Amino acid sequence: MYTPSIHRYDDSDTIFTRCGRSGVLLPKISLGFWHNFGGVDPYERSRAITHYAFDHGITHFDLANNYGPPYGSAEETMGRLMDDDFRPYRDELFISSKAGYDMWPGPYGNWGSRKYLMASLDQSLRRMHLDYVDLFYSHRFDPDTPMEETLQALVDIVRSGKALYVGISRWPLEALAFADQYLRDRDVPLLIFQDKLNMLSQEPIENGTLEYCRTHGIGFISFSPLQQGLLTDRYLNGIPSDSRMSRDTSLKSTELTPELLQQLRAWNEEAAIQGHTLADHALRWVLAQQGVTSVIVGASSVAQLERNLKAMG
Ligand SMILES: NC(=O)c1ccc[n+]([C@@H]2O[C@H](COP(=O)([O-])OP(=O)(O)OC[C@H]3O[C@@H](n4cnc5c(N)ncnc54)[C@H](OP(=O)(O)O)[C@@H]3O)[C@@H](O)[C@H]2O)c1
Repeated sequence: MYTPSIHRYDDSDTIFTRCGRSGVLLPKISLGFWHNFGGVDPYERSRAITHYAFDHGITHFDLANNYGPPYGSAEETMGRLMDDDFRPYRDELFISSKAGYDMWPGPYGNWGSRKYLMASLDQSLRRMHLDYVDLFYSHRFDPDTPMEETLQALVDIVRSGKALYVGISRWPLEALAFADQYLRDRDVPLLIFQDKLNMLSQEPIENGTLEYCRTHGIGFISFSPLQQGLLTDRYLNGIPSDSRMSRDTSLKSTELTPELLQQLRAWNEEAAIQGHTLADHALRWVLAQQGVTSVIVGASSVAQLERNLKAMG
């Protein structure tokens, strides 16, 4: 039986930040289930990572319907974790899921229709063995579905009690502003915006999204803050056989150009001068951007997560 550390909230002042203008505090580092929690991954390793996280005050687990592989299996892992370990601590956890990418065949298993979002959340709850999620996201902007339809589905999901808060991910700035107003007018304020922000990918700063969130009381959470592992020491001396890049799925070896490698080595040296690892340096960089609430890290081992949590200090 899992007994969490009694010291898990000892460093609360260091760990938690307020999410926009809301009542929700989130850990500066959240744990993502995109990779390493699927049906193909060893359950005991995934389990150990979540225990380490929760033992250190990491209360926010970020999921989506299609995380795995196979699709849905990361949520099934979450369901198993609820049954094995976390049920007594449900009210200490902030669990998110999303719908927006391809999930099941046919026209109703993708994008942003009410039909898809409603059915997908029901499926997610069944897989995770949960009555509700804390946060439900539209995972991406759908240019063909009226925004009102997607947003009204989010409003109705909150009213149904299946989600406590709503977020959107990867919506363009103008659509974000529309969503902000639409949701605010219906008393279901947008809690958070999720997008990629890291030292190599700064679009939310360049296009004004981060500033919009900061000035409108919306939290901002960054995904892939380590650019899937590039912003760590993982690839400084080749491509390890157990790395994400070696699997050649979401992170391609073509991304590791000689110029990038040179840049990464320079940042690694800069980090070392400050007594940090490159990962630590990269996470601190994101957390230092005004308006950032949290970064969602991935980890394939407890040791990686342990190193990453140092960035909150
Ligand atoms: N909204 C969206 O569209 C969207 C898109 C992508 C991700 N996300 C969310 O963001 C989360 C994080 O994404 P991500 O996994 O790409 O994040 P990431 O933190 O940028 O990359 C995580 C990977 O980097 C490597 N790594 C992590 N810490 C390390 C360390 N200290 N030293 C060496 N290598 C290290 C590991 O890869 P190895 O396997 O090589 O060890 C790990 O799996 C996802 O789980 C998901 O929840 C959301």
